[in-house]
Amino acid sequence: MKFFIDTANLDQIRQAQSLGILDGVTTNPSLMAKEGVKGKKQIFKHYKAICDMVDGPVSAEVFSTDFKGMIKEGEELHKIDPDKITIKLPCTEDGIKAVKYFSQKGYRTNCTLVFTVGQALLAAKAGATFCSPFIGRLDDIGEDGIQLIEQIVDMYSYYGFETQVLAASIRHTNHILRCIEAGADVATCPYKSIIGLIDHPLTTKGLEIFCKAAESMK
Ligand code: E4P
Repeated sequence: MKFFIDTANLDQIRQAQSLGILDGVTTNPSLMAKEGVKGKKQIFKHYKAICDMVDGPVSAEVFSTDFKGMIKEGEELHKIDPDKITIKLPCTEDGIKAVKYFSQKGYRTNCTLVFTVGQALLAAKAGATFCSPFIGRLDDIGEDGIQLIEQIVDMYSYYGFETQVLAASIRHTNHILRCIEAGADVATCPYKSIIGLIDHPLTTKGLEIFCKAAESMK
């Protein structure tokens, strides 16, 4: 399973990149706003800085909600770094049309705000590179986000779609573990949840014992 980091924070991206396990980055308008970037010039500069920092795809979401606006913005975003920028488009009628438009041009796309198998089917039929089902937000309303990942993974495999399931809205380390079991292609996670995979009390305790032994031999 690939690991993307779900943030627009340059320090966190740098930290995750330095671990050597980072496969890409996802951002969204809320995450960008958190970084205090304002205006097209600053926003584009920020995306460029992210692209220069990582080796994989960087999802940049359009702000427009209409097809024409999405196309204009997507074209501009693509130019920032054609090899890395992945145009992130919402799963709406206009968004699906835009996914189709960009996938026909060979641009990488991420169809976001996916909450049902039906939406995932449309994203794949439109040729999305990634489909982003939101686990945490479904859990928040009493539904089962992981079950949706399992259903989409099965459906894509049954019909032979190449669209990758990008598990999003991950809130904790256990979500990541469940995504592995579900067969997600990618999980986009906050840095804290990735680091949570490392922590184990027996690793900490075992290391203490080994350090003491090593000390005794000096
Ligand atoms: C996905 O790409 C989104 O950026 C993100 O995972 C949304 O997560 P949230 O529900 O924690 O806002």
